[in-house]
Amino acid sequence: MDKIQIVEVGPRDGWQNLKQMLTFEQKTDLIDRMVQAGVKEMEVTSFVSPKAIPQMADAAQLAAWALEKYPDVKFWALAPNFRGVENAYNAGIRHVSYVISVSESHNKANVRRTHDESFAELQRILETYPDVEITVGMATSLGCPFEGIPSKEKVLDFCQRLYDLGVRSMYLADTIGIADPRQVRELTKAVLDRFGDCDWQVHIHDTRGMGLVNTLAAIECGINKVQSTLGGLGGCPFAPGASGNTATEDLVYMLQRMGYETGIDFDKLLAASKYQKSFVDGIYSGHQMNIEAKQPPCC
Ligand code: COA
Ligand code: ZN
Repeated sequence: MDKIQIVEVGPRDGWQNLKQMLTFEQKTDLIDRMVQAGVKEMEVTSFVSPKAIPQMADAAQLAAWALEKYPDVKFWALAPNFRGVENAYNAGIRHVSYVISVSESHNKANVRRTHDESFAELQRILETYPDVEITVGMATSLGCPFEGIPSKEKVLDFCQRLYDLGVRSMYLADTIGIADPRQVRELTKAVLDRFGDCDWQVHIHDTRGMGLVNTLAAIECGINKVQSTLGGLGGCPFAPGASGNTATEDLVYMLQRMGYETGIDFDKLLAASKYQKSFVDGIYSGHQMNIEAKQPPCC
């Protein structure tokens, strides 16, 4: 059976732009439920400015709690700059998702840096923390709210720049959920063809209802690690119009039906998702939320 590794990014991408502030206990309760459902890899928080993203102000405390309680789970944290990686490192994190947008306008809106500045900072991070596994999230690689769809050549040049710095783990991100499956297929094939020795993931938003097909397109081209959020909760505070991510429970349902192994218990995960929805107000794109409503006798 083919194995697909799901990376649950809800605690970061799902929660980061909620208006409602979640308490530490609400967060740990939800993380407990996801881990109990079988989630083995999770982006647990981000080390960013608490002024920019107040929801992530408890990053160090949450990361330390998660690492101590679940030593067998691979916990990632997102960081946009050197300071974020330093803080993550001090909290015990050894897997960092560093984000740079392929379109420079979005990079400036999101992390207030030019490409040169983001790459220079990445180089410093790689030199300072050789024991940290860094994956680079290529935001807007499948579409930007300001610059449209980047050409394949532009994305490949961007990957080459990362590769030349020594990066061997990257992910394609459809930050605003604008991509289509053919585009995902073509770009995935192109990056795997040129950078097949790297570890690849995809990060897909479901803004236009194409989260599952786009994620599947990447899987069918050979990517076996995919990101999603519990309930499809999500959005990007610096990408106008971005709504939820691909929902983890929808993805697990589809993959298991297709015979892929995910290691996740669908019923437990769905229960966790519904539990989250019972007190968290946000943009959800998950379909399994309404599963009872779809049971017979409706026709
Ligand atoms: N962790 C905590 N605080 C941070 C930080 C980090 N990683 N990076 C910057 N800061 C703080 C600074 O201390 C400063 O605080 P102050 O105003 O109280 O002095 C403030 O943020 C601005 O710092 P500055 O040095 O001017 O900015 P910067 O260019 O280094 O950082 C960002 C700017 C983009 C990193 C910051 O605005 C940020 O974290 N944005 C959130 C990006 C994000 O999460 N996007 C969505 C996910 S991709
Ligand atoms: Zn996202």
